[in-house]
Amino acid sequence: MMKSAIFLIAAIIQFSYCASESDIEVLLSEISDLTLSEDGKLNFTQLVTKYGHTAEQYEVVTEDGYLLTVFHIPGNRSSILLAHGLVADADPFVIRGHGSLGIALADEGYDVWLLNNRGTKFSRSHTELDPDNEKKFWDFSLHEMGYYDLAATIDFVLYQTGEEKILAIGHSQGPSQFFALTSLRPEYNEKIKLFLALGPGAYFFNMPPLFQVIADAGPLLLELAKTLGIEELCRDRGALLTLIKTVCTKGIVSYEICVKGVIFPILGYNPAGFELSFLRTLFGHAPSGFSRKCLEHYDQLYLRKKFSQFDYGVLENLSKYGLSNPPDYDLSKVTADVALMAGKLDELSLIENVKLLKENLPNVVHFEEIEETTHSDFVLSREASIYLFPSIFSLLQNYD
Ligand SMILES: *[C@@H]1O[C@H](CO)[C@@H](O)[C@H](O)[C@H]1NC(C)=O
Ligand SMILES: *[C@@H]1O[C@H](CO)[C@@H](O)[C@H](O)[C@H]1NC(C)=O
Repeated sequence: MMKSAIFLIAAIIQFSYCASESDIEVLLSEISDLTLSEDGKLNFTQLVTKYGHTAEQYEVVTEDGYLLTVFHIPGNRSSILLAHGLVADADPFVIRGHGSLGIALADEGYDVWLLNNRGTKFSRSHTELDPDNEKKFWDFSLHEMGYYDLAATIDFVLYQTGEEKILAIGHSQGPSQFFALTSLRPEYNEKIKLFLALGPGAYFFNMPPLFQVIADAGPLLLELAKTLGIEELCRDRGALLTLIKTVCTKGIVSYEICVKGVIFPILGYNPAGFELSFLRTLFGHAPSGFSRKCLEHYDQLYLRKKFSQFDYGVLENLSKYGLSNPPDYDLSKVTADVALMAGKLDELSLIENVKLLKENLPNVVHFEEIEETTHSDFVLSREASIYLFPSIFSLLQNYD
């Protein structure tokens, strides 16, 4: 109970700092043990170049007016789209150099495309709405990021490559978006050769105690945030840094305890995959921004025990859906080939919940439990090229 209370307080602090804007360099200079590594300072384009490829950058406009950045690392094999998770953007797919999925796929010759969802640092603009002054900009969750952002990006890649179908890999929220999109716009199933879901976020049954404590307090925290007018979370990369600065004070020991106490328990514990010094790179790139409503939607999935659309409350539900309860996403409409990979150490996308997804999807062609992999390890692990990439490459080969 004591432990839960501490975690809850840590979560609240993290949440509130996540909401504040802070200057990365100033923060870093105040944390004596934490300075950015070279790769922490290089941006996406520079990292891709450093690791032997070229990166192109495009702007895509969604049907509802958001301007998204799409990155491209050209290759001469099949095109593959990478969809990042919440709190991230395209950056984490390249920050371990040849040991990260984006670069490793390019090294194998794939033609790699990377989405950046609305609200992230690469896609924080709109044809009409001002993200700094108009709350309406932040009125989105996994639903809109699937229905509009993923759809627009898939169409853009198809247009650019002249292909009829592409491969896609999504991590965490990426699969949530994909299932929302293909269940509501089934024509998008026809545009995908294979969708590989890494640690997909859809079902949240039997969650660990820490998650439950935080998620049960979610409605209260989120209502508080709403009252305070906080719509945008994790702008810049100040959030965790500020937490570390505030709670973990100085010195490598307390810093280490704090990072392990706050980051690992939620995502899964695997210090071998996430060495402390990697933070010097990671914090140059993550977290990336998203909306309060994103968290609210996930919290509803957990509380409602359903993979359903956003719950607006009785009256608004009625006007929006014609129903008092928000409709479930109909997974029977997700007819594309889907592969599922679940991390054996993942505390957020639990193996049992991924199995449940497998039962509810009509066309799962592959299911695999990945050793030594937490929720974040799918993208960030130092050991991904040992435990994860061989599985991914052999699976993709069948579709190349
Ligand atoms: C990275 O920095 C270079 C040099 O400042 C710039 O030309 C490029 O557009 C930047 N790329 C991104 C993705 O911001
Ligand atoms: C693909 O590109 C690589 C270099 O990136 C080259 O060595 C190889 O010959 C190319 N393959 C084909 C089939 O064009």
